[in-house]
Amino acid sequence: MSHAVPDPSPHPRPVAIVTGGSSGIGLATARVFLARGDRVVLGGRDTERLSRAAESLIREIPGADVVTVAGELADPATGTRLVEAGRERFGQVDVLVNNAGMFAPKPFVEVTPEEVERFVAANLLGTYWVTQAFVRRLWPTGAGAPSSTSPRPCSRTPSAASPRPLHWSARAGCGR
Ligand SMILES: NC(=O)c1ccc[n+]([C@@H]2O[C@H](COP(=O)([O-])OP(=O)(O)OC[C@H]3O[C@@H](n4cnc5c(N)ncnc54)[C@H](OP(=O)(O)O)[C@@H]3O)[C@@H](O)[C@H]2O)c1
Repeated sequence: MSHAVPDPSPHPRPVAIVTGGSSGIGLATARVFLARGDRVVLGGRDTERLSRAAESLIREIPGADVVTVAGELADPATGTRLVEAGRERFGQVDVLVNNAGMFAPKPFVEVTPEEVERFVAANLLGTYWVTQAFVRRLWPTGAGAPSSTSPRPCSRTPSAASPRPLHWSARAGCGR
């Protein structure tokens, strides 16, 4: 006989994808999600740095539920892997935090063509592809997250030239 107690909460704990989660702002953002009981898919390029970040979160936060996905975001496959990791491990993805990126702390006129290419790859293409993968997964269901992170079902599809999700601060909704 099963003594399992049904989960009384109307929604499972939300799942947030945090890109650039191996350091700085992304790592701090992941810590906030985990501390409030959400689950996290943590992205970054360097596998070891990413593992160390996840280990530190698990040490700091009892019960922290986090999965890592290492990869270059300019590769569209990385966005898909982040989303699918959330689906496989947690059964859902609810929030996308497009944090990964870079900038040059130097005068504008000194930025080199190589640096511009790296910025565009990480900041533009990376954001574009992971958001596309996220929205592809979200759209068929008009997926929902509880309360403050709740998306509303979307009535418009973003265009290729102007993907609204890029302007949502990665919120899983388009009604606001
Ligand atoms: N810190 C600031 O004062 C400041 C100010 C304005 C805006 N921002 C922006 O806020 C974001 C986070 O800043 P931060 O200072 O916390 O950065 P950070 O400590 O340098 O961390 C950047 C994170 O993004 C990942 N990343 C960078 N390029 C990537 C790529 N092409 N593909 C996949 N992952 C990539 C890094 O992974 P690896 O470590 O594995 O490379 C790392 O996890 C950045 O977008 C930055 O431009 C920061």
